[in-house]
Amino acid sequence: MSTRRNFLKVVPAVGAALTASCTESSNSASAKTSPAPLRPVVISTWNHGQPANAAAWKILSQGGTALDAAEAGVRVTEADPSGQSVGLGGRPDAEGNVTLDACIMGPDGDCGSVAYLQEILHPITVARQVMEKTPHVMLVGKGAQEFALEQGHKKVDLLTDASRKDWEEWKAKNTSGRLPINIENHDTIGLLTLDQNGDLAGACTTSGAGFKLPGRVGDSPIIGAGLYVDNEIGGATATGWGEAVIRACGCFLVVELMRQGHSPQRACELAVERVISKNPDWKEIQVGFIALNKNGEHGSFCIAPGFDYALYSPEVENGLIDSGSKIKG
Ligand code: GLY
Repeated sequence: MSTRRNFLKVVPAVGAALTASCTESSNSASAKTSPAPLRPVVISTWNHGQPANAAAWKILSQGGTALDAAEAGVRVTEADPSGQSVGLGGRPDAEGNVTLDACIMGPDGDCGSVAYLQEILHPITVARQVMEKTPHVMLVGKGAQEFALEQGHKKVDLLTDASRKDWEEWKAKNTSGRLPINIENHDTIGLLTLDQNGDLAGACTTSGAGFKLPGRVGDSPIIGAGLYVDNEIGGATATGWGEAVIRACGCFLVVELMRQGHSPQRACELAVERVISKNPDWKEIQVGFIALNKNGEHGSFCIAPGFDYALYSPEVENGLIDSGSKIKG
C-alpha cells in the first residue's frame, strides 16, 4: 500500500470524524458505541512525526512493545540535525546552550524524565533509563548529564551551524519574547503508541522554546503536562508554548476527559478550551494536543491553525492530518 493512496483514502474519513466530533456536546460522548479496536497505532506531532512513526511502526508491526516503539520513534527526531526544535540541531537558549527536555511513560504507569540536559543526543533514552534504573522519575541538569554518562552516553555538540546562526541573528536584533510555534517553526515531538497487545505508551522530547531564559524548562518533561498515559484509558501528548500547557496540566486533563467518556478528539478540544481559559495571552501562542485511546481512536486539537499530526495505523500508512482548529485565524 502506498503512503499517498492511504492518505487520500483515509483522510476524508478522518476529516468527517473531526467535523462530527467538533459539534458533539459534552454529555453525548458516552452515547458512542466503541468500534472494534484498531491496532497497532502510532500518532505523533507535526510532520517530523512521519519518520518517527515509521521507526515506531517497524517495531509495532513486528509485535514489539508500545514502550520500545515510542522510544525508537522519537530517537529518529532527536538525531535529525535539520529539526531545530528537538535534540541535535535544536535552537539554543539565550546564552547559546542547547538544553533538552524529555519524558517517557509506559503501560505499567511508570515514567521517567530528564530536563535541562546538555550535550546528550538521546534524552528520551536517558529518561527511560531514569525510569528503569533509578527509584526516581526526574533528573535535571548536571545530575542528569552525569547519570547519562554513567549509562554510557557520550558527550555530543548539539549546536549546529544553522541554529548557531539563528541564535547570533536573534542576539544581534536584541529582541526578547517568543518565537512563533507552528508549522514554520516546529516544536516538540510527542508520540503515542498502541501495540498489538493493546498496551499504550508515549514519549515526548524537545529542545524547548528557542532562545529561552537559561534554566527554563517547559511542559515536555513534565508528566501530566507534556505527556500522560493511562493504560486503562489512553494517552495524550502536547506541543506548543509549554508554560500554557503546564498551567492546565494539559495531558493529564486530556486523559481524564477520555476517562469520563469523551472521544480523543473531544477531549483535546475541551483541553484546548481549558488552556485558553487559563492563559489570557492565548491569541499569541500555539498549543496542540494529540490523543489516542485504548481502541486505537485518535484525535487532536489546537489553538491556532497550522498544527498537524502524523498517523500510522492498519488503515493509514503514515498519513498527515490537519488538526482542524477553527479557534483562531
Ligand atoms: N512544548 C515545548 C516547550 O515549551 O518547551
